[in-house]
Amino acid sequence: MVNFSKYKIYVAGGVGAVVGGLSIYFGIDTMYGIPTLKWDSNWDKRDPRSLIKPMKFISPEKENEYNEKLNKARSKAFRHIILIRHGQYNLLGKTDKERTLTPLGEEQALATGARLKELNFPYTSIIRSTMTRATQTAILIQKFLPDIPVKDCSLLEEGAPIVPEPPHSQWRPEYYVFRDGPRIEAAFRKYVHRAAPEQVNDSYDILVCHGNVIRYFICRALQIPANAWLRFSINHASITWLTISPSGKVSLKTYSDVGHMAPQYITTS
Ligand SMILES: *[C@@H]1O[C@H](CO)[C@@H](O)[C@H](O)[C@H]1NC(C)=O
Repeated sequence: MVNFSKYKIYVAGGVGAVVGGLSIYFGIDTMYGIPTLKWDSNWDKRDPRSLIKPMKFISPEKENEYNEKLNKARSKAFRHIILIRHGQYNLLGKTDKERTLTPLGEEQALATGARLKELNFPYTSIIRSTMTRATQTAILIQKFLPDIPVKDCSLLEEGAPIVPEPPHSQWRPEYYVFRDGPRIEAAFRKYVHRAAPEQVNDSYDILVCHGNVIRYFICRALQIPANAWLRFSINHASITWLTISPSGKVSLKTYSDVGHMAPQYITTS
């Protein structure tokens, strides 16, 4: 009897070891059974090694020359991307111009403007989606940050970035994704990347835009499957803060933060 139980333990242990070994081999997380993907450190195509023409190391001088070029192409500063969703707006409006902020939406925008001022970062720019509700939100925020350069960008308008998984029960997004997806991806590539080598100081860009755009950016920046975007809920006039290090590592500091708002101000729709 004793020998038999021992035998079973050995068999179980052996099977466990083989499964564990295969899991590691195939990149499966043994605890949760989830495939773990390797971080792509050249996700923004700004890794200096991918920018400099390879050189045959024929002499130490040549090697030094290559290393100097590499250093010149290297990012030196952190980029902080502060994504603000617009405030609550009038859903009954037919055209974009009619979809204006509600009185509550205006209060939310003012609360977030006050918060950004209180955070007191050396803001670099405010970039506004050209849709009415985003521009209105930005104008209210600008009251608190009067000296920051402002730009408008239609790439940041709302849309359907990618067909979500799991699918939405009502919405049929295929046409909208075909129309908007590449434009929202273009916005991602324009705004979310490590600092250019010339940038000496850390930068803090405020992007006033939209829920789907922000959720897509987060998935793309964190290298989470982008079709997971609809699994995130996002508050009106909330603060989502991404940081990109000089090596291209990405950190999500806050998501959908409305901790600065009184509870009665907090809405998602
Ligand atoms: C970088 O920051 C320093 C210190 O705040 C400042 O003096 C300098 O003008 C900044 N440089 C640029 C290019 O913004």
